[in-house]
Amino acid sequence: MRVLVTGGAGYVGSVLVPLLLDHGYQVRVVDWGMFGLEHVDARAELIEGDIIDFRPEWLEGVDAVIHLAGLSNDPMAAFSPPLNYVLNAAGTAIVAQAAREAGVRRFVFSSTCSVYGFSPQGEADETTDARPTFPYAVSKLMGERSLLCLEDEAFRPIVLRFGTIVGWSPRLRFDLVVNTMVKTALSQGRVVVFNPDIWRPLLDVRDAARAYMLALEAPLDVTGVFNVAAENYRLPRLAEEVASALAEAGVPARVEVERRPDVRSYRVSSARAREVLGFRPQRAMRDTVLELVARIRDAGIEDFDDPRYYNVEGMKRFLAEGRTPWAVVRALGPSEGGR
Ligand SMILES: NC(=O)c1ccc[n+]([C@@H]2O[C@H](COP(=O)([O-])OP(=O)(O)OC[C@H]3O[C@@H](n4cnc5c(N)ncnc54)[C@H](O)[C@@H]3O)[C@@H](O)[C@H]2O)c1
Repeated sequence: MRVLVTGGAGYVGSVLVPLLLDHGYQVRVVDWGMFGLEHVDARAELIEGDIIDFRPEWLEGVDAVIHLAGLSNDPMAAFSPPLNYVLNAAGTAIVAQAAREAGVRRFVFSSTCSVYGFSPQGEADETTDARPTFPYAVSKLMGERSLLCLEDEAFRPIVLRFGTIVGWSPRLRFDLVVNTMVKTALSQGRVVVFNPDIWRPLLDVRDAARAYMLALEAPLDVTGVFNVAAENYRLPRLAEEVASALAEAGVPARVEVERRPDVRSYRVSSARAREVLGFRPQRAMRDTVLELVARIRDAGIEDFDDPRYYNVEGMKRFLAEGRTPWAVVRALGPSEGGR
C-alpha cells in the first residue's frame, strides 16, 4: 500500500514515516520544509511542495492519504490567522478534494482535542459540542467539516482528534508541554506549571504514530471522528510525574506553579478509538520522559533556545525568507496582533 503523508517532515511525520516504512508501506511525503526536510526517512519518496498548490500527480499510485500539513499550534495561528485559515481549513479541503477525485478511498486527518476549547467539566467524547473560540482550533474544525462533507461510499475519511503529542522526535519541538518541562529541567533545574487548574489529554508521539496506522488498517466502513489520547492530566500531577522520571534520569528539578490565564482546558474520552480502532497506548509518561532525556543527551543538544525547536519561530523565519509561494497569502501577511 502506498501512502501519501502531507507534512511528513514535521515533528509527528518524522516518527510516523519510519514506522510506516518498517511495516511495509510505501511512503510519499509532500512537505514545503518549514522546519527543513532533513528528517524525512531516506526510504521515503520526498516531494518538496505546497498543499495549497496541490498537484494531482502527487496522488499517482496512492492508496491512502495521511494529512498532517498545516500550522500546528496556537502561537503559529495567532501570528497569522489568515495563513492559519488558508492552510488548515482550505488546505485540508484542497487535499481532500484532490484525493477524492483521484479515487483515493482512505483519508486520515490530524485534528486536535483543542476543538473542545474550554470545557473542563467531565470528559468530552465525539458527540460533545465543539465550539472553540481561537483560530487554531476553529481552523481544524473547519478542516474536519470539509472532510465529513466529502464523505460518501467511495471517500472514507477518518478524523483523529489528538491530545497534546509529546516525546522524542528527530524533528524535535520544545513547545509541547512535557517537552517544555524536560527542557526547563535540563536548562534551569525547574519544571513549571503555568496554570494549576487546567486539564490536558496527552499521548506519546509513538502512540500517535500507531493510531495513524490503525486508522489506515481499519475496514472501510469505519469513518468519522475519534478522540485519541493516553491520559487526561491536571498540570500539577503531570509536573510531579515528569519530575519523578527526571529524578530517575539524574535530572533534579523543583516544581514551580504560576497562574497564567489559559483559554484551553479539556478532558477527553478515547473510548471510541479503543473500541473501534483498537487503540491501546503503549507508552507511560515515565517512558516518554526517560527517552527524551536520553536522546537529548545523545544528540548533544545544549542550545535549548534555538528557534528551530519552537514552531512559531521557525514559521517567522520561513515567512521572512518569502517562502510562501502564493501571492495571495504574501499580500495578507501576519496580522497586526501577531507581529
Ligand atoms: N503535535 C501535537 O501535539 C499535535 C496535536 C494534535 C494535532 N496535531 C496536528 O498534527 C499535525 C502534525 O503536527 P506536528 O507536531 O508534526 O507539526 P509540525 O509543525 O512539526 O509539522 C507540520 C509539517 O507540515 C508542513 N507544512 C505546513 N504547511 C504546509 C504546506 N502548505 N504545504 C506542505 N507542507 C506544509 C511543515 O513544513 C511541517 O513539516 C498538524 O496538522 C497538527 O495540527 C499535532
